[in-house]
This record gives sequence, structure tokens and C-alpha cells, in this order.
Amino acid sequence: MSVQIDSLWPVAANALDDDALALGFVRDDRGEPWLRVNFVSSVDGAATHDGLSGGLGGEADKRVFDVLRRLCDVVLVGAGTVRDERYGPMRLDEAAVRWRVANGLPQHPVFAIVSRRLDLDPASKIFTDAPVRPIVVTTGSSPAEGRRSLAEVADVLVCGADSLDAAAMVAALGQRGLAQVHCEGGPSLFGSLLAADVVDELCLTVSPRLEAGDARRIANGGLPESRGLALARVLRSEGTLMLSYTRAR
Ligand SMILES: NC(=O)c1ccc[n+]([C@@H]2O[C@H](COP(=O)([O-])OP(=O)(O)OC[C@H]3O[C@@H](n4cnc5c(N)ncnc54)[C@H](OP(=O)(O)O)[C@@H]3O)[C@@H](O)[C@H]2O)c1
Repeated sequence: MSVQIDSLWPVAANALDDDALALGFVRDDRGEPWLRVNFVSSVDGAATHDGLSGGLGGEADKRVFDVLRRLCDVVLVGAGTVRDERYGPMRLDEAAVRWRVANGLPQHPVFAIVSRRLDLDPASKIFTDAPVRPIVVTTGSSPAEGRRSLAEVADVLVCGADSLDAAAMVAALGQRGLAQVHCEGGPSLFGSLLAADVVDELCLTVSPRLEAGDARRIANGGLPESRGLALARVLRSEGTLMLSYTRAR
């Protein structure tokens, strides 16, 4: 039995199954880009416990995390998170593959990694065991040798000269039929996406913990002005809240 997740708002419903969980998230099949970001945070805003997100999320967070991967065309992750959280290849489990195929989607989403320095090993399983050829998103200022070696195992997209052009990245992914973008962090990448105003939805798990200390927040960097959000959905599993916000219009 998987952990129980109830919906509190906008519809009250108990013990959602995976279909009901998925149904409440936006998936725009008209080809329009949609960029969703998913994070877990403590109640006092820490994005890490002992330097990683894993200590914050529980079973309910993991269930939503998995359902969000089912819904997307591409999973986008910053290279820092890939390194720190020791990501492997983007291979979904059998239940997720069945769900995707039944819903007209390819078996696995594409894995896209954002990196300027290209400190990524082309011999790692991320690339050698990938069910779908991954994408590396980088800038024009990245090392040419890194681009050459990664191009053997991934499609390398150059978006921006010195810094990432996030709008160009979303457009380039859309042109490849990857309009439903799901970003799993981390805070530096989220900051860049916010600065470029390309984030459509934030899914935030609030873990019932206080961390204090100097743990980082879910977004770094600066914004010219703060952004308003509209509450789209509230899920609950015991003390854990799973919130979805879209941009305020
Ligand atoms: N609470 C959560 O839900 C959650 C989620 C994800 C991560 N985290 C935590 O966040 C921490 C990692 O933070 P982070 O800020 O290092 O993560 P990050 O944003 O995933 O990675 C930063 C790195 O990604 C690349 N990158 C990101 N934005 C870029 C941009 N605009 N242009 C070019 N490259 C860009 C760069 O890679 P290169 O250095 O290769 O150039 C940069 O050093 C870890 O402790 C992880 O556990 C928490």
C-alpha cells in the first residue's frame, strides 16, 4: 500500500490514486510550453537537510515526485543537483512506463542537464544507461572539449553566450517536441528560470520539520521584483503539505 495522500483544495477527496494525483496537475497537450518546478522545503524554508534534499522529503513527497516525472516530456536538472544527489539515468519504473504508454506518452522522459562548466562524465551511467539520449544544455562560453566529448553521448544545446538564456532553452526544447518541462532543481537553476520569467508552476512539498541553521532556500539569485503566485492545489499526507502554485495573472 502506498502512502495516503488526500486532496484538500480545490476539491476535497481522500486517498487519491496515481491517476487522480496526476489529473490535478496541469498537462497542456496543445504543444504550448509549460515549465513546472518541484522542490521540498522544511517549514522554515530549508531546501536541504545535511546538504541534501532527501532528508526532508518523506514517502508522500516521493509519490508526488514520481507522478510528476510521469507527466512530462523532459526532466530538467542543474548539474549541481545531478552531482550532489548522485543522479543516475532517467529510467522510470515499470508502473510509470505502463502509465505513460497508456496515456500516449513515450516510455521515459528525456533527461536534460544544465551546465556551464560541463564537469559531467560522458562514461557515467546517466549517459551510458540512458533509455533515451539525454540533452546537455550549456552556454557558448563552455569548454569546447567538454562539448565535443559530451556530444558523443548526448545532444548538446547551446542556449545563451556567457549565461544561460532560459527562454531560448524552453523554446529549443519545445521545438524538439519537449514542451512539458519538469525541473527538479536545484536552487541556482531555479533562480535563473525565475529571473527569465519562464516558470509556469511550482510544486512545493512543505515537510513538517524545522531546520534552522544556514541551509539554502529553494531559489538563489536576484529578481528585479518579487513574483506573485496563485494557489492551484493543496494535497496533504499526515503533517506534510504538497502545494501547487501557478503564476498570478
Ligand atoms: N529541496 C529540494 O527540493 C532540492 C532540489 C534540488 C536540489 N536541492 C539541493 O540543492 C543543492 C544543489 O544546489 P545548486 O544550486 O548547486 O543546484 P543546481 O542549480 O542544480 O546546480 C548548479 C549548477 O548547475 C549549472 N547551472 C545551474 N544554473 C545554470 C545557469 N543559469 N547557467 C549555466 N549553468 C547553470 C551549473 O553547473 P556547472 O557547475 O556544471 O557549470 C551550476 O554550477 C544540493 O544540496 C541539493 O541537494 C534541493
